[in-house]
Amino acid sequence: MKKISLPQQSKMLTSDFVFGVATSSFQIEGGAADRELSIWDTFCAEPGRIKDGSNGLVACEHVQHWRADVELIASLGVDAYRFSVAWGRVINANGQINQAGLQFYVDLVDALNAKGIASHMTLYHWDLPQYLQDQGGWLNRDTAYRFAEYAEVMVRTLGNKVASYATLNEPFCSAYLSYEAGIHAPGMKNRSYGRQAAHNLLLAHGLALPILRKHAPQAEHGIVLNFSPCFAASSAAADVAAANLAHAYHNLWYLQPLLTGTYPDLGDALQADELPKVAAGDLELISQPIDFLGVNYYTRTVFRDKNGWFSDVPPSKPPLTTMGWEIYPQGLTEILVQLKETFANLPPIYISENGAAFPDELIDNAVHDDARIDYYQQHLLAVNDCIDAGIDMRGYFAWSLLDNFEWAEGYTQRFGIVHVDYTTQKRTLKDSAKALQALWLERAAQL
Ligand code: NOJ
Repeated sequence: MKKISLPQQSKMLTSDFVFGVATSSFQIEGGAADRELSIWDTFCAEPGRIKDGSNGLVACEHVQHWRADVELIASLGVDAYRFSVAWGRVINANGQINQAGLQFYVDLVDALNAKGIASHMTLYHWDLPQYLQDQGGWLNRDTAYRFAEYAEVMVRTLGNKVASYATLNEPFCSAYLSYEAGIHAPGMKNRSYGRQAAHNLLLAHGLALPILRKHAPQAEHGIVLNFSPCFAASSAAADVAAANLAHAYHNLWYLQPLLTGTYPDLGDALQADELPKVAAGDLELISQPIDFLGVNYYTRTVFRDKNGWFSDVPPSKPPLTTMGWEIYPQGLTEILVQLKETFANLPPIYISENGAAFPDELIDNAVHDDARIDYYQQHLLAVNDCIDAGIDMRGYFAWSLLDNFEWAEGYTQRFGIVHVDYTTQKRTLKDSAKALQALWLERAAQL
């Protein structure tokens, strides 16, 4: 079996660096009868939305198997586990707390702590309760206030037991893919909706942050954003401008308000009625200092001009993952170096997700996923390059612990380092899990 190794002197091998695995609530939990419906339940029920017509009602049945899953996580030798909370498992439609649902997360955090595994909790990983969507969802400013109340319930309950609180996961997806491109729940397609949803999401982050700090003063508080370096399809001025516009629209739109209290100025690329409605004081709330920035990195993107706007050029040259994404490890270093050059106040960074889907086959109780081992090896070296470039890198989380529900792709894409048989719910370590486990256990032994 292939090995994964790091340079001997790497900071990543010290106790100042956190290694973990990541999941999210809707993608693994199942247990739908014990929570409110979310926008993803509704979306999955609409014909044609999900590639294989599947849904998240059962998923990896983590709510039943969570104790065994904690054992599995511990066996890997990680320092931390990143997971998210299903808002609708904790707050009922009538605004009351679902005590049994809340207790599920208390038990999970307690079990992790008992094993010395730090909890990195994300409060919102896309599963908005449908009862809030019925009031307009992220187009309704009020949702941001409901989020702050929900965050308060979580942090009053768990406080410093949780090592790290992230408000949102990838607001780009919850805004752009969900309200503007129409490919994620709730499936809306309108540019001004996308911009307004993004603003209300960032407002939710800003409203929750002081509450989180107050009730968990020893924990770290931040947010998780996804980044993809944007390349031009050609050296033609229009394509270069398109790549710059895409960078501003997809990457900076979410980070710049957090770090400077301003949205990128796109000149006349956006119509006045496409700009979000921003109330006095919003950007001050949004730009409060954060302790960390979580970065999800998967690939780069190439853009060309399309009538003064941008359009992505799907990669055709191998190596590609089964998502059709180019494997481009140096992009992780490139984008972080670029962000560091742009923002002197770039916070400490965790790579909160990185991983790949491949055509795995379970044969004789094994999955020989050498391509995934190579992917992790190359991306871990890219993280090390970031450290060498002077970026304050604090940790790395593999996406994902388990094969799971990959949103609009259903169960057709396997991102896990652990294989899940969806009929029996049997978990099997893939070779990539074994390679990472060997690295992590060896490192732990030397700390
Ligand atoms: C980012 C998302 O946070 C996660 O939910 C998803 O499964 C991965 N990307 C892979 O697409």
